[in-house]
Amino acid sequence: MRLAVFSTKPYDRHFLDAANVGQNHRLSYFEAKLTAQTAPLAGDADAVCAFVNDVVDADVLALLARGGVKLVALRCAGFNNVDLAAAQALGITVARVPAYSPHAVAEHTVALILALNRKIHRAYNRVREGNFALDGLLGFDLHAKTVGIVGTGRIGEVVARILSGFGCRLLASDPYRSPVCEELGVEYVDRDDLLSASDIVTLHCPLTPDTHHLIGAGTLARAKPGFMLVNTSRGAIIDTRAVIEGLKAGTVGSLGLDVYEEEGDLFFQDLSGAVLRDDVFARLLTFPNVLITGHQGFFTREAMHNIAETTLADVGAFERDGRPLHEVSVERIA
Ligand code: NAI
Repeated sequence: MRLAVFSTKPYDRHFLDAANVGQNHRLSYFEAKLTAQTAPLAGDADAVCAFVNDVVDADVLALLARGGVKLVALRCAGFNNVDLAAAQALGITVARVPAYSPHAVAEHTVALILALNRKIHRAYNRVREGNFALDGLLGFDLHAKTVGIVGTGRIGEVVARILSGFGCRLLASDPYRSPVCEELGVEYVDRDDLLSASDIVTLHCPLTPDTHHLIGAGTLARAKPGFMLVNTSRGAIIDTRAVIEGLKAGTVGSLGLDVYEEEGDLFFQDLSGAVLRDDVFARLLTFPNVLITGHQGFFTREAMHNIAETTLADVGAFERDGRPLHEVSVERIA
């Protein structure tokens, strides 16, 4: 099939080319993000491969359909950026990579928790400048602390498994209970009880209308004062402005982010020579107790290999059988 790949970085090309050996799809790589302006680059492609911050709204889908695109293959798990109803109406099938390495994101989550707690980001800079003072670097034992996991799907389960190894007490909120978590001794509680009891809250639910700004002024008022908040899921699950107020008031003790509400204009690009125009993001960068990574939770060799293999397997199945292996159906937004 002819596949137009958007938001391509050299590493995407490397893994997709390797996965295409023996499959012979015709891949065209575009560095540009998919938007209404760049959609015509797809030309006569049968399928489009998109990533987390590509715009796959009704306008873009209409442009792609006009050009003959029949499949949007997302090379990520989340599909919150796709207008599934519009895709269905236009006869475009949507596929995603539901699981590629929950370990990658779970391990990155734990890296953020450990680094924030023991102030590794600050210690690294201090030691390089010959400052070996410990003031301001005081952390706490993770052992016996209470961690609240919001969403115990594939990633949340692995986070629970790792943190149980640290001897944490684990609480969870999820409409569906995970047998793996129950076996680990995770206690399912409602969201308010999780917030009020947890020293650390980590988010692993998808972004849906129900979870949009799930952490906002109201929920923060019910949280344990000084708790650590970690979000490696999707930026808009957190109301960033409310969390900034929480950081200023001390209700949020520390914040670890791998995702950000408005990351589409920032992440995955080298903007080191540009003026930062996002004042909310700029404010986040001023806090010593905030640690941000640029959506790199998924970025391990194993995950990249699996993403490329699964994406092209979906494209192959769609070409052969008219259905990808991992279709996202419109019912999923209900
Ligand atoms: P999953 O679908 O296996 O698990 C999500 C869980 O969240 C499910 O158990 C579901 O029942 C639960 N959930 C849904 N609504 C909820 C709510 N209102 N409250 C509590 N729980 C709720 O998904 P997986 O693979 O664990 O991924 C989780 C999220 O991680 C994805 O949706 C994606 O946004 C994000 N992600 C981030 C990556 C990164 O690089 N930072 C990479 C991959 C995924």
